Amino acid sequence: MNKIDILLGLQWGDEGKGKVVDALTPNYDIVARFQGGPNAGHTIEFGGKKFVLHNIPSGVLTPGCVNLIGNGVIIDPHILRGEIEGLAKAGFDLRQTLLIANRAHLILPTHRALDAANEKALGKMKVGTTLKGIGPTYTDKTARKGLRIGDIASADFRERYESLKQHHLRQMTAVDFDLSGLQLDGMSFEAYEKLWFEGVEYLKQFQFVDSEYYINEALDNGKKVLAEGAQGSMLDVDFGSYPFVTSSNVIAAGVCSGLGVAPSRIGKVYGIFKAYCTRVGTGPFPTELFDATGETLRQNGHEFGATTGRPRRCGWLDLPALKYAVMLSGVTDLMMMKSDVMDEFETIKVATAYRYNGVETKQLPFAACTETMEPVYVSLDGWRQKIGNEKTENGTPKGSPTEWEVKRRTENNIPEKLEDYIKFIENYVGVPIKFVSYGPDRTQNILR
Ligand code: IMP
Ligand code: MG
Repeated sequence: MNKIDILLGLQWGDEGKGKVVDALTPNYDIVARFQGGPNAGHTIEFGGKKFVLHNIPSGVLTPGCVNLIGNGVIIDPHILRGEIEGLAKAGFDLRQTLLIANRAHLILPTHRALDAANEKALGKMKVGTTLKGIGPTYTDKTARKGLRIGDIASADFRERYESLKQHHLRQMTAVDFDLSGLQLDGMSFEAYEKLWFEGVEYLKQFQFVDSEYYINEALDNGKKVLAEGAQGSMLDVDFGSYPFVTSSNVIAAGVCSGLGVAPSRIGKVYGIFKAYCTRVGTGPFPTELFDATGETLRQNGHEFGATTGRPRRCGWLDLPALKYAVMLSGVTDLMMMKSDVMDEFETIKVATAYRYNGVETKQLPFAACTETMEPVYVSLDGWRQKIGNEKTENGTPKGSPTEWEVKRRTENNIPEKLEDYIKFIENYVGVPIKFVSYGPDRTQNILR
């Protein structure tokens, strides 16, 4: 019986999941998204080209790989269409390889409007959402009001749409919000709504499936399946820093409900984290840096949102938070990303505990959002050298961009101080770091 492997972000999102899924995909027949929606921005770079995926699984650039948008995902048809067409222009035709779950919920234009209305009503306490309608859509799912992909074929779809839209308009009135001044992706609500319906029609050429049967049968038939998470564990609706979280379960448990697979069918759990931390939006971030070091992380790491363009908040690695995420999902293999961003650092700090209410603790407190948590740091020496050497003179990575190739290296090729950093993390968290990425390209990785 084949098991489904999972790849999860262990921080606040933007760990580099797109790159790793793209790197792992040649080992899989199917890549499936199980939660989130177009709030995600998964960046894949190769051959000097950059692709940002929002709704589509990151297996699309690998020929022959089937990509499934699972039932736990929420979909904006207009955004999804734009993504599919962008990939088609780059030579990737998804008509045979993209499958969409009937049970996946639709993000209506008024869900996006409500997202804006809710944020406005919160004022200073706003979550800093991506304004893609994520919260309102999951709210309607739980409130049993939502529309799903499988509904778009039904004769009364338009009526049901109108009825839900009217419900949303009443909710907006209650918080003194109207659609007149609203801009959605630079256009009026009416213009967006028109494109949204065109997107619905466009999606009808794709295959809709009952993803729970599809995945379980694929596993029974010996297919290899990778579930690709979006966002990160610290944004999980249950275990993140509530209310500054997203609206889905982004931990391993989300795979069971978001694809319809049983816990006993879960295999490897790859957990991915950056060698430092970033966060977008509001909410606690104990190791955040407001100084020149933070700015260096932001500039070296190009830490600007792939979905919203916002500058990301940057700070040192937070080990209690990382260990918490590993615990919640049963991570078996760790992957550390963006190590190269700290190549020039003389000293690197890592938080190993928090001081909070006068006591030192290694656990994340319930009141993380209202109390000040002061990190307790350990300082380690930086490695102060470039990792990897396979760049050509003009700075592009060597090797054929279309050929996936892992640079298998021995531990000796890793700078000694970087190896110390890696071992420090492994000792704290208790899980091996098997993969170290040192650049955005597909080929810039070290396997340990
Ligand atoms: P929402 O998911 O758009 O509702 O946003 C809720 C919170 O999650 C905000 O702080 C967002 O910045 C954050 N967030 C949502 N998706 C991502 C992501 O893919 N990467 C990083 N942060 C995200
Ligand atoms: Mg992202």
